[in-house]
Amino acid sequence: MLTCYDYWTASIVAESSVDCLLVGDSLGMVMHGHDSTVTVTMEMMELHTQAVARGAPAKFIVGDMPFLSNRGSLDRSLENVHRLMRAGAHAVKIEGVRGNESLISHLVDSGVPVMGHLGLMPQSVNTLGGYKVQGKSQEQADLITAQALQAQSSGCFALVLECVPTSLGQSLSEALDIPVIGIGAGVHTDGQVLVMQDMLGAFSRNANFVRTYATLNETLQQAFDSFDQDVKSEHYPNADESYPS
Ligand code: KIV
Repeated sequence: MLTCYDYWTASIVAESSVDCLLVGDSLGMVMHGHDSTVTVTMEMMELHTQAVARGAPAKFIVGDMPFLSNRGSLDRSLENVHRLMRAGAHAVKIEGVRGNESLISHLVDSGVPVMGHLGLMPQSVNTLGGYKVQGKSQEQADLITAQALQAQSSGCFALVLECVPTSLGQSLSEALDIPVIGIGAGVHTDGQVLVMQDMLGAFSRNANFVRTYATLNETLQQAFDSFDQDVKSEHYPNADESYPS
């Protein structure tokens, strides 16, 4: 699974063998320059989900429920889920299980596939005190395991597990029947997800689980400078790139 936020990259990843696209609320940081995902709105999620759905109509698209959009009344949560589904998501991802159990069951019973998200939950950065590896102590690991089992029994079809020790990634993947999609959770999870711009070398983030498969920032920087130099030296446009009189 890769994150995807726009029509352009969606239409490229549409031709790849990647199984699933996540319109993650990380778009708030990657595409809009916010400090965290806490400021992401339903409007932002809708707009980006629509663009991805147009670019990759044959891919399975998961839309992230942004901060607090799934809390409060059931009616409000349902309306927000409906907005993401109408925008083109085939499933929604909800961060955290505690307090969301009955919503998850209600959504699943209503025909909405729900992906859970445990471990490091970026929407809770202000409670966690930063982006830190979770589940390092036995007590924390037991808590995450209990919540993962709860996510499964509430009806989640898959679980994202972010930034936990490899041993917890492995034990959870073995304990659950649903697939565990890891990000910074080691090699033993059933699948992996990365933020597309991280793996393309198009966004500088200091996380040791990121492997870069391209150096897009450098390539783009070179292209911008070459264009600028060609324009300023009057090498662009040439005769073939102009309309004859
Ligand atoms: O918002 C996001 O991109 C995510 C992934 C990092 C899993 O939740």
